[in-house]
Amino acid sequence: MVAFTARAHTNIALLKYWGKADQKLIIPTTTSISLTLNEFYTETTVEFNDDLANDQITLDHQPLKAKDQKKIINFLDLIRAQANINTYAKVESFNHVPTAAGLASSASAFAALAGASAAAAGLDLTPADLSRLARQGSGSASRSIFGGFVQWDRGTDHQTSVAHPLQEQVDWPIQLLTVIVSDQPKKINSRGGMQNAMQNSPFYQSWVERSNALVKPMQTAINQHDLATLGKIAEQNALEMHAQNMVANPPFFYLTDISWKIINLVQELRENGLKVYATMDAGPNVKIISHPDDTEKIEDALHTILPEITIQVATPGPGLKIWQ
Ligand code: DP6
Repeated sequence: MVAFTARAHTNIALLKYWGKADQKLIIPTTTSISLTLNEFYTETTVEFNDDLANDQITLDHQPLKAKDQKKIINFLDLIRAQANINTYAKVESFNHVPTAAGLASSASAFAALAGASAAAAGLDLTPADLSRLARQGSGSASRSIFGGFVQWDRGTDHQTSVAHPLQEQVDWPIQLLTVIVSDQPKKINSRGGMQNAMQNSPFYQSWVERSNALVKPMQTAINQHDLATLGKIAEQNALEMHAQNMVANPPFFYLTDISWKIINLVQELRENGLKVYATMDAGPNVKIISHPDDTEKIEDALHTILPEITIQVATPGPGLKIWQ
């Protein structure tokens, strides 16, 4: 059968997904909204081949750890079931993430895998179908099928839990400055972390309600190109996600003292009139939502308190591309 390649970009959630209503199908407890990023992506080639005796999977020319390998094989099984084939696949994946960005994410990985493996298996799927499929690999991957601002509707079942673009072409100035605090794998991955928060945070239900209430205001901010309101909502939502983790029993923390230094600096810069806002995911890195004209000022301020810190500029990026 023919090999297909797909490229999917990572995305950063402005309203976070942090908990599953259905573990197996990966139906979230909240609707989330993200921005797909131009600078970071995964490219994956898949070929189903009758001569193979098992699935062969590599990332950047290296074999995967057993746990990650299993996740990919489970995903290929979904494709095989849908395409009604039982052939093994060769999967070659490459992460195009600047060194040490600590952003190599399951979102771009499963979105690219969904695109390449569906095409290679001869399935003719719409972007919405691909989003549902990618979601079953990793929730955030459902959003990486699309470019620009994307909403993943929580939904109630496999059909309705799907992402769609809110604004594919982002023609107004917004960027995410990614401050690399650490490139080490996190101790608690997002899958385990969100499960912990759901089961062990006394405020989890309030997170769900408050998060869902932010969907409309976030959509309006995006429509109106309102960087200040978008940033304010995103920062609040990110801090509430981390608050869930901090009050869980037992508590767990993704943010380090360096992350907090950066968050404090962002607040200080804001008091001095800059439109800058912080968002953080399941790790210590801080992404600063900002206007491209302010890059130098922000970088100078960061380097004053953290001279060695690495900063990557990320701008709005495109949706999934698939080719033969
Ligand atoms: C904090 O999509 O990695 O980045 O569905 O279990 O694979 P699984 O989780 P994943 O979680 C992402 C969590 C987040 C917020 C977000 O991207 O919305």
